[in-house]
Order: sequence, then C-alpha cells, then structure tokens
Amino acid sequence: MREECYYGSYDRKENLHFDSKVVHGGLGCEPITGAVSFPIFQTATFRHRAFDLSTGYNYSRLQNPTRQELERTMAILEEGEEGFAFSSGQAANMSVFGLLHPGDHVILSDDIYGGTYRICQEIFSNLGCEFSYMDMAETDSLEAAIRPQTRMLFVETPTNPMMKVADIPALAAIAKRHGLLLVVDNTFLTPYFQKPLTQGADIVVHSGTKYLCGHNDVIAGIVVVKDRSLVEHFQMQIKSRGNGLAPFDSWLLLRGIKTLSLRMVKHDENARAVAEWLGKHPRVKKLYYAGIGGMISFELDSEETAHRLLSDVKMILFAESLGGAETLVTYPITQTHESIPDDIRRKLGINERFIRISIGIEDVRDIIADLEQALR
Ligand SMILES: Cc1ncc(COP(=O)(O)O)c(C=O)c1O
Repeated sequence: MREECYYGSYDRKENLHFDSKVVHGGLGCEPITGAVSFPIFQTATFRHRAFDLSTGYNYSRLQNPTRQELERTMAILEEGEEGFAFSSGQAANMSVFGLLHPGDHVILSDDIYGGTYRICQEIFSNLGCEFSYMDMAETDSLEAAIRPQTRMLFVETPTNPMMKVADIPALAAIAKRHGLLLVVDNTFLTPYFQKPLTQGADIVVHSGTKYLCGHNDVIAGIVVVKDRSLVEHFQMQIKSRGNGLAPFDSWLLLRGIKTLSLRMVKHDENARAVAEWLGKHPRVKKLYYAGIGGMISFELDSEETAHRLLSDVKMILFAESLGGAETLVTYPITQTHESIPDDIRRKLGINERFIRISIGIEDVRDIIADLEQALR
C-alpha cells in the first residue's frame, strides 16, 4: 500500500535542552490544525482515501497518532532509537521478556519490583527460561554467574524497595563482553536524572504509571530501544498482543511529561529534606535512600510503629504506587513485594517494620509534620 503519511517525520529537537524537550515532545503541535495540545485520536480505524493509498495509519492496535506522539517523546527524552507505549509497566516488561527463547537465562537485580519477579517465576520459568537474582553492585560474582545460555541482564537502579544503585557503564561493559542485552528499569529516576541508553544499556523500560505520568491517574508502560534491530520485536508485541496504550491514556501521559522536570526537582528536594529528618528520628532504625529522586525506604523500631504510621497518616496517603504528586506510604511486605518468597524478602530486609515512601510535591513542612504526628 502506498502511504500518504501525515505524521511520518518529526524533528528530534536535538538543539533543545531537556526541560524544553519535555514540553515540546515529538511533533509537539499537531501539524494539520496547529492544535497546541496534541489531539486524542479516539478512533479504532482509519479511512483509506483510495485503493492502495493509506495515511500510514490502519487500525489503532497497530498505530495511533496520539500513542505515536508519546512514543516519539520518550525516544527523544531517553535518547533512543524508538519508543513503545504499553498498557502498563507489566505489559512493557512482558514484552521485554518476550525476547527470550526456551533455555535462555537472565540475571536480574536481587531486589526488584515484585511484579517483575512474578513475570519471571510464574510465566517465563514455565516456558523453559531460567532466572538468577544477584546484587548488581557485585560485578565479579555477576560475571562469574554468566552462563553460555545467558541472554540478558535486567537491572533496576535504584532498586525497589532497597534503593541499591548499580553502575550502568560497568554493567554495559560486562554485557558487551558476553554478548548480552542490558535492560534498565528507569522508573525511579526517569530520564530527568538518568539516561541508561547513553551509558551503554540496550533497552530502557518504565512503569509510566509513576513519575512520567506524575498524577496517579494512568496505568502505562514504556520501552525505548537503542538499536533499530530491536524495533521489529516491540512493534510485533504491540500488534500481536494488543497491549499498546490507549489514545486517552497516551494523552494523559504526554500531558504529565510536560511538567516532568519541574516535578522531579521538587520530588528530589523534598525527599532530601525528609531523608535527613527520618535519619535523625529515634524510631527509624535503618534508612534506605539513594541520595537522588523521590523514593525513600526505612525500617522502624517495631511492627506496631509501622502499623500505626500506616493508619495515622493524615495528608500522606497509605496506598500502593509511587511517583505522583501525592506523598504515598506503602507496606512492601503485603503490597508491592507480596509475590516475593518470604525468605528472599527477609534476606533483603523487607520485614514487618519496613516502609517505603514516595515523596510527593506538597510543601515539605506538611510531609514532615504528618510523619511526625504519625510516628509519635
Ligand atoms: C520499578 C517498577 N517497574 C515496573 C512496575 C510495573 O508497572 P505497572 O504497575 O505500571 O504495571 C512497577 C510498579 O510498581 C515498578 O515499581
């Protein structure tokens, strides 16, 4: 079919700084009408003007201009070749592990989001893939664990929830030496703070539900690849699994991304102050904070104190998730990391006294005052 493609090319805006790129996205304005807010193309299908003449769009499961604008925006921000927007972070991860074949082996961070662990252990293990979990900071033992069947390193940095930081260039060197794909889950820092593809990673994955969206109102996932050779796989995943992000949700994410830089600065600033305060609190026995971004975990003096905190917070909300405007406290042992076997959780330090907090963009005095009254 010949294509009369309306949105076929876009300016990657290489000359702009990051804070401008988040505002101006892929195409930015819609080129035909000049709409400043990129429209929501709420359509299932697209008319062909004549036999053998297409606009480049056929059916929204395959391509949709609003989703494409988001995908292009994320490719620009992560400095990758192409982006893909999925119906959730889990769907994005499923598509990443969809690169595996039976017999393949993957090494992941030993401390990862419970849902990622579940995908590996409950779905891909049954398809004949094998998974090892290691501290990604210990590069010598990591290299020793690589087998002839190893295909991928999958890293969260900082990790969820222990905030362990990995050295991406060091991991990229190992991946290159052994011909492995390096995948980085960049949910916690976003390209505002960290661009893994520029440090040697092959694939970046996000729960777009978190900081990219920023408003706790969308479930979304993003993949950005460094190399054209990976593009076809992800196109096929979206086309065949039908797990692409819907037009309205793509628009909400585009809208959220416009303020990504402002929000990340505020999350970071607030978290720094809260971490300092928590570090001096007599009930806080251990503090886990990467020194950057909006996420903090901590261990309290007792299970009772932890339960009281979750029940007594007033402005802060006791809820699963992270990265939104609102400060959220989460109880990993029964929420985000419920799928991880208890012995592994305890070895990591995820116990009944352990709390994760996503610092929002409220006035930090109110966040601290709320924690203070709940930790009395
Ligand atoms: C680091 C990380 N990756 C992936 C996911 C999965 O994303 P979603 O909930 O959007 O499916 C999460 C969710 O909490 C997460 O924290």
